[in-house]
Amino acid sequence: MRPFDGRRVILGVTGGIACYKAVTLARLLTQAGAVVDVIMSRAAREFIGAITFEAVTGRPVAPDILDAGHALAHIRLAKEAALVLIAPATADFLARAAQGRADDQMTAVLLATKAPVLIAPAMNDGMWSHELAQRNAQTVRDVGYEVLEPEIGPLAFGEGVGPGRLPEPHVIVAHAGRLLETAKGLAGAQIIVTAGPTREALDPVRYITNHSSGRMGVAIAAAAWRRGATVTLIHGTLEVPLPTGATCIAVTTTAEMRDAVAAALPSADALVMAAAPADFRAADVGTQKIKKREAPPVIALQHTDDILVSTRSLRRAGAIVMGFALETTQVEENALAKMTRKGLDFIVANDATEVGAGFGTDTNRVVILSADGERETPPLMPKTALADVLLDRVTRALDARS
Ligand SMILES: Cc1cc2nc3c(=O)[nH]c(=O)nc-3n(C[C@H](O)[C@H](O)[C@H](O)COP(=O)(O)O)c2cc1C
Repeated sequence: MRPFDGRRVILGVTGGIACYKAVTLARLLTQAGAVVDVIMSRAAREFIGAITFEAVTGRPVAPDILDAGHALAHIRLAKEAALVLIAPATADFLARAAQGRADDQMTAVLLATKAPVLIAPAMNDGMWSHELAQRNAQTVRDVGYEVLEPEIGPLAFGEGVGPGRLPEPHVIVAHAGRLLETAKGLAGAQIIVTAGPTREALDPVRYITNHSSGRMGVAIAAAAWRRGATVTLIHGTLEVPLPTGATCIAVTTTAEMRDAVAAALPSADALVMAAAPADFRAADVGTQKIKKREAPPVIALQHTDDILVSTRSLRRAGAIVMGFALETTQVEENALAKMTRKGLDFIVANDATEVGAGFGTDTNRVVILSADGERETPPLMPKTALADVLLDRVTRALDARS
């Protein structure tokens, strides 16, 4: 993933039950392209072995601060870091960090570094809600560290449910990516992204829809948030997890998606319409299940509202609108006509018949056409990477209008 490529990330692991999740976190960061140096507290080594981190990062775990032969390891690690991430962070670690202590490798690196710092506390809910723990979290926030709120969920065995759980590793990676992101051109922008298919009922149990997975829209929403935007994701049924950071609004029908877009559009700087709304709905939706034993029904269909056309008057002056056109024939001609008809700034055209592109795949090959007559043809690439290519265009267009 772009912001991590070759970047040095220090992963501080302190001694809590959630240490087991830190292994997945180290793996995800490494897979995203980061060079991960793990620092373990002495307590963390009681929970999990250093060798596990070495195996997933391909790098030795940092020595203890007073280990012979590594006199200035804390200064070197601090200087080389692009990001210092502590996950899980114990109550004890937070207390020591808040005091500016430097009595182990992790706290010493923390004091010595100029890199951004991200802390993900995890502890028993009683510990987290204690005034002293809250005060310590606030103290480190006040010096500029980002402290993630622990999630509410099942705690250690027998401890029930409460706030204190370490967020899932992919959520922590998303926050780390936002801190590492260098393309901050969307900071302060409000972006609406739509994703996935909508469904139109035929009767109380059946519906028509399409093969959209939501991958493209979710990738765009994730990348826009990483680049600093405030993101509203309006989505149908998704085959992928919701992105971190976006305000997500789930809808079922095309009319619901239109209403949600209409509500958000007046304050949006950009709309990226990557959803695949159903174009047709049943003229009459049966109130009873259509019986199988009856003769196969002929179902009359009618058009659903076109979301981009019907919400056009709600666009803010200067808002950038990007649409998608999935076609099976005359791809670019059809896409150009759609761009004009719907008053778009960009249309992203792809060919549903091409292998590795369009619905359901992790990759996509598109042609980006602009209302100014530009034509860009990025190669086949992961949808996560294409999201950045598309947002580069949106960012430039917003810059040109401001
Ligand atoms: C089984 C067990 C689980 C623990 N889980 C946590 C935890 O989730 N969060 C926490 O803040 N402390 C937890 N502790 C307490 C810490 O391990 C203890 O405060 C330790 O001194 C932390 O040291 P460190 O911050 O240097 O890693 C746990 C202790 C035990 C014995």
